Amino acid sequence: MLRRLHPEQPDSFAFTPDNQKWAEAQITKYPEGRQASAIIPLLWRAQEQEGWLTRAAIEHVAQMLDMAYIRALEVATFYFMFQLQPVGSVAHIQICGTTSCMICGAEDLVAVCREKIAKRPHQLSADGKFSWEEVECLGACANAPMAQIGKDYYEDLTAESFAKLLDDMAAGKVPAPGPQNGRFASEPLGGVTTLADFTGEDQNASVALADRLGDTLKRIDGTEVPLITPWQGVDKVKPVDSKTIKRREPKPAMVTPVDDTGASKQAATAKPKAKPEAVAKGAEDAGNGTRPEMLKKAKGKADDLKQIKGVGPKLEKMLNALGVHHYWQIANWSDEELAWVDDNLEGFRGRASRDDWVAQAKALAGDDKDGSGRT
Ligand code: FES
Repeated sequence: MLRRLHPEQPDSFAFTPDNQKWAEAQITKYPEGRQASAIIPLLWRAQEQEGWLTRAAIEHVAQMLDMAYIRALEVATFYFMFQLQPVGSVAHIQICGTTSCMICGAEDLVAVCREKIAKRPHQLSADGKFSWEEVECLGACANAPMAQIGKDYYEDLTAESFAKLLDDMAAGKVPAPGPQNGRFASEPLGGVTTLADFTGEDQNASVALADRLGDTLKRIDGTEVPLITPWQGVDKVKPVDSKTIKRREPKPAMVTPVDDTGASKQAATAKPKAKPEAVAKGAEDAGNGTRPEMLKKAKGKADDLKQIKGVGPKLEKMLNALGVHHYWQIANWSDEELAWVDDNLEGFRGRASRDDWVAQAKALAGDDKDGSGRT
């Protein structure tokens, strides 16, 4: 199937403030230089917000990730889960047409779509509320035939029950997802033969959760669930300015030796880089900010700085060489001092603010504000 951008496109795209925060948080999951790995979740959130992926949204995401537009476009056009044309304002219906569903009546469901929505897939209904398409197996074959509508699955459908679902949705209701024939989950149609006492609930866990979240048909604006970032060890995230995303160090260019020793012109003229140890001893500091007060050695037992998310053995060694040994030291850094540290982490520049070390260190230091209790 040829997948092209829709001929009619909006001029611009912007994430809602909460979705923007969510997207920035996703970017922090990936190591420096690998931010492009966030492309699929960001495109997906743009689609959840708008219903479909506009050109402006694809370009906006590409900009956030410092990617060429064409790379983002390649992803958006490759995966069928991305809708490249406007979808129904209420719902886009995805009918599974693979073997189990086809045998159990998927064609009847498609006929309902043709009659109630539009003759062809990806066409909007006359009132603009619905669109539909046939998709490959959605992994709910035991409850065939089924359809994904919005975020949830509607299973064990018949032409009648499916038509009623559409009518209810058109009337502003959100029918409970899951089996529509009274089944609890995917137990035998004749009733359970094992684990007979497995439930006293009306709904299986998936349906109960969908009902609780209430976001089956909702356009997601980021307010649905609180933003949590467990990979940072804190539940808040500092916004990331995409302009400050660091690129991977480019691979060294092929160079021509300029003398018999094999030294290249670049190597001959390059300034030696300051080593972290040298910085700790007061040699020339790199970049901005104010150098925080450092300790020549730990006050008593040094803290395990690797407990700070984003700090591995290499960074810990570098911090120790700079004179940082304790959580409380980091917890006390001002913005200026944080900027200095960011600029002096050779090979890891910007990591301290990106991973919000100060907030993490505050949590780890607890009552230890200045190490005065240490021996
Ligand atoms: S065949 Fe329809 S969900 Fe698998």
